[in-house]
Amino acid sequence: MDMRTHDGSADVHPGAVDTGHSFRRRPDERIARAIARALGDAHHVLNVGAGTGSYENPAHTITAVEPSLAMRAQRPARLATAIDAVAEDLPFTDGRFDASMALFSVHQWSDAEAGLREMRRVTRGPVIVLTCDPARVRDFWLYDYAPDVLDTEARRYPRLSRLAGALGGTVTTRPVPIPLDCTDGFNEAYYGRPELLLDPAARQPCSAWSFIDDRARQDFDTSLRRALGSGAWDEAFGHLRHRPTYSGSLVLLRATP
Ligand SMILES: C[S@@+](CC[C@H](N)C(=O)[O-])C[C@H]1O[C@@H](n2cnc3c(N)ncnc32)[C@H](O)[C@@H]1O
Repeated sequence: MDMRTHDGSADVHPGAVDTGHSFRRRPDERIARAIARALGDAHHVLNVGAGTGSYENPAHTITAVEPSLAMRAQRPARLATAIDAVAEDLPFTDGRFDASMALFSVHQWSDAEAGLREMRRVTRGPVIVLTCDPARVRDFWLYDYAPDVLDTEARRYPRLSRLAGALGGTVTTRPVPIPLDCTDGFNEAYYGRPELLLDPAARQPCSAWSFIDDRARQDFDTSLRRALGSGAWDEAFGHLRHRPTYSGSLVLLRATP
């Protein structure tokens, strides 16, 4: 599925275009540290699919690429103005950047492999990709309550072997532990706080929710509320309320030439 917004960016249901995206997309400092470690001592960093600039670190000189006008417009004034371009056709010379990153973005590209080859071309050092492993997306309690959402996510995320193949060189793939009080707003961030996912505003940043219809959203709401009320959720998954971190489908790929 490759739906397009009015301004050309891929993959978000037209009725759910960008507004409020940054509302629950507050970068999590622990995830930010994992990204910073992967970028190493890079100075000039390219951020592809930069969105509103989550995880752009002031310690770096950032060049941001973002095809969505709505997203570019939401970038805070303190951040670099994003260039209107796509990963698949980066307007930069070979080896221009010390490092590059694509965070929560490759699943939206029309050709993930072409985009990653482009990132490799324009980057001297590490290329890092924060994404979800489609093989693990359904291993999450949410699958019991919103299977269509996670089926959608599992279809959208490219297989990690495809990403690694396109990046070439030496690729390491590490799970990113998600903290219990994660401030970022992707589904697994709520692994131990299920009540929060009942708030539509919490679900809004995850575009997979925009692919399901009102009836499926209502079914999710009803079944999760019922399971929380009856204690069934806690019986099955209550241990997660106290688990300090969760290793789910979130992974960080790091490729060096
Ligand atoms: C879920 S947002 C993530 C934004 C940001 N990286 C973050 O972590 O907050 C995915 C972004 O990828 C962008 N995108 C979609 N297709 C793209 C493409 N072909 N090339 C580059 N970026 C793309 C979207 O416009 C969107 O801003």
